[in-house]
Parts: sequence; structure tokens; C-alpha cells
Amino acid sequence: MTKELQNQHEDYYATVIDSVGDGVIVVASSGLITLCNPAAEEITGFSKRQAQGAEFEKLFALETTLRDMVSKTIRTGITISDHENVVVRSTGRITPVAVTCYPLVEGSGKNIGAILTFKDITYIRELEAAIRQADRLSTVGTLAAGLAHEVKNPLGGIKGAAQLLEREFEPESEMLEYTQVMIRETDRIDHIIRELLELASPRRLKLAPINLHKVLGDILLLQRQAVVGREIAFIQHFDPSIPDIMADEEMLTRLFLNLICNAIDAMGVDGRLTVTSRVLSDYRMSQNERRSRMVAIEVGDDGPGIPAGDLENIWTPFFSTKSGGTGLGLSICHKIVSEHRGMIKAESDSGHGTKFTVLLPLVQ
Ligand SMILES: Nc1ncnc2c1ncn2[C@@H]1O[C@H](COP(=O)(O)OP(=O)(O)OP(=O)(O)O)[C@@H](O)[C@H]1O
Ligand SMILES: [Mg+2]
Repeated sequence: MTKELQNQHEDYYATVIDSVGDGVIVVASSGLITLCNPAAEEITGFSKRQAQGAEFEKLFALETTLRDMVSKTIRTGITISDHENVVVRSTGRITPVAVTCYPLVEGSGKNIGAILTFKDITYIRELEAAIRQADRLSTVGTLAAGLAHEVKNPLGGIKGAAQLLEREFEPESEMLEYTQVMIRETDRIDHIIRELLELASPRRLKLAPINLHKVLGDILLLQRQAVVGREIAFIQHFDPSIPDIMADEEMLTRLFLNLICNAIDAMGVDGRLTVTSRVLSDYRMSQNERRSRMVAIEVGDDGPGIPAGDLENIWTPFFSTKSGGTGLGLSICHKIVSEHRGMIKAESDSGHGTKFTVLLPLVQ
């Protein structure tokens, strides 16, 4: 083969590898990385220049499972797949990946390294979480509807009786304090039941063009009053190019009010509440879905954060760590976002605050 023809061949193969949508990293049996394609760069956060020539073991020092797979394939020549347990942390975020490690075999049959292919399965994981949440909500929904019917009438009776009793006592009677407690507590139960029913019943959205920044601005304005006396800074970065979106204004107000109240609750006497909005032009809800334009609204605080063990539970109805909390706030937020065909996620570093991100489609 002439030199020129060989170069053409090499260019052709390089173009093929670079065009593969999955990450491809090739490791020689010496342990050095010999090839890293653009998809691998995107998933791992390492550039081709950083990766090629580097020692795989050193570059992926944190990824024990990946390192084990590569060394086993190089040693034994067998193909190993793991679609469940592997994550890549190099980008500063944790990306779940489905990995297969193939032996790199020469024409003579000699094993000269390993080819690692991986796929980013963040979307699949998010979808699985959404399905689990929907399952939980439907169980709660059935329960709630039954419970609400059973409890609503006797509750009305108790409240009525307490109000009658209240009239029987003289204005200065100590007993009045007790009737007031009864009325207040029945109101509280009534509130919980109404929220539960809200969660259980599918509602038709009243869609209309909504100015998101006005909704957020109004909530922030009100909440500023609520934190008077505390040193809480409100920081807002709104992308002025965001057009009106088709949404249910009352529902969106509840959604953001819940998130902002949670953030304020989490912070002590001082803190920073950050609300930002931006357009994501290329977001895909799942790998098969068409790319669509979404708007991302983030509500962040620098409170104590959510412990890793609680993060999965915060969407479960009645999960609350607050003494007066019902634990229905985030379940309702989740429902509102799903009804708007959006997504909501929470990220938190214990000790470094919490960030909730809501994605809503620009066109409903
Ligand atoms: N910004 C935040 N920082 C820290 N923890 C949070 C934050 N947001 C939510 N949480 C945790 O998630 C839990 C559930 O929140 P959720 O809004 O569902 O219920 P709640 O606020 O406790 O009660 P309520 O029903 O009154 O909203 C909270 O009790 C808290 O432990
Ligand atoms: Mg709440």
C-alpha cells in the first residue's frame, strides 16, 4: 500500500471512530490510553489531549469498577459488560454509564489491549426515577381519595361542635383556649386532606401564555416580606429572551412558591437564595425523543443541603424533616411539573446548599 493510500485509510478509520455516538477509549496492554473519541471526551470531561498517552489507571483513579474491567479484559481477553453500576465522576458531576469492555485482538490472535465503549444513561436513570415516583403517587392517590371521603365528614362535625362549644363559654373562660386549639387543629387536618386530594386527582390545566419572570418576581417580592429581620439575600438572574410559555399560572405559582419557601426554610438567619432562568435549546427528555427547546428555572440556596440518603425520599408524600411540615410540598411540585410535560430534579451537597432545577417546554 502506498503511503498516501495508507494515510487515507487512517483518516477514514479516525473519522469512523470519531463519528460513533458512544464513548470509545482504547487502552493498550501497557495501560496507556491510545485513543479517545469526542463522545468519550464529552462523557468523561477529559480532552483527547489529556487522555491519549495517559495511564488509564491514573486518569480514572476514582473509577474502581472501570479499572477492574479494563485490567481483567487485558489479562484474560474476555468481553465484560456492566449496565448497572458504573459511574464516571471526572466531570465534577456523576454520570451513570453503561459500559462494555472488549479485548483488542491483533490479526495473529494476540491480545494487545482493551476497547472500552460507554453510553451516558443519565436520561434512562431519570426516566426510571420518574416512573418510580409516578407509581408511588398512584398508590397514594387511591389511598388519599378513600381517606379523604372517610375523614372529611366527621372532621366537619368536630369543627362544628367545637364552634358551638366556643359560644357556650364566657369570653374570659380558660376553656376557650382548648376550643381554639380544636378548631385550629381540625383546620390543619382539613388543609392536609385538601392537599392530598389535589395530589390524587388529575386536573385539567388552564393553559394560557405566562410570563415566567412575572410569576417568579411576584413570589420573590412577597417572600422578601416574609424574611424581614433575617439577612437573606435574594439574587435573581433572568434571561430576558425567554418568551411567554403556555402554562397554568396558578399551578406554576404553587410550584415555585413551594420551592422558594423550602429554600427559605432551609436557611438560618442569613443566606443566599438564587433564582435563575435560561433557555436550553437542545434538551432531550429521553434519548429517543426529538430535541426541543426547554426553559430551565433553578432555585438554589446555601442552606445545610439534603443528606444523600434523603435525596431520593424528598419526592415521597409525607416525607418531611420539619416539625410543622406535611411533606406534600415537593410531591405536589413533581405532579405540577409532570402535568406540564417538564422535569424537576434536586441536587444537593450536604453542607453546600441545594439546587432545584425545573425544566419546562417552551411550547406546550
Ligand atoms: N432547599 C432545601 N434544603 C434542604 N432540605 C430541603 C429543601 N427542600 C426540601 N428539603 C427537604 O425535603 C423535605 C420535603 O419537602 P416538602 O416541601 O415536600 O415538605 P415540607 O417542606 O417538609 O412540608 P410542606 O408540605 O409544608 O411543604 C423537607 O422536609 C426537607 O427535609
Ligand atoms: Mg415544603
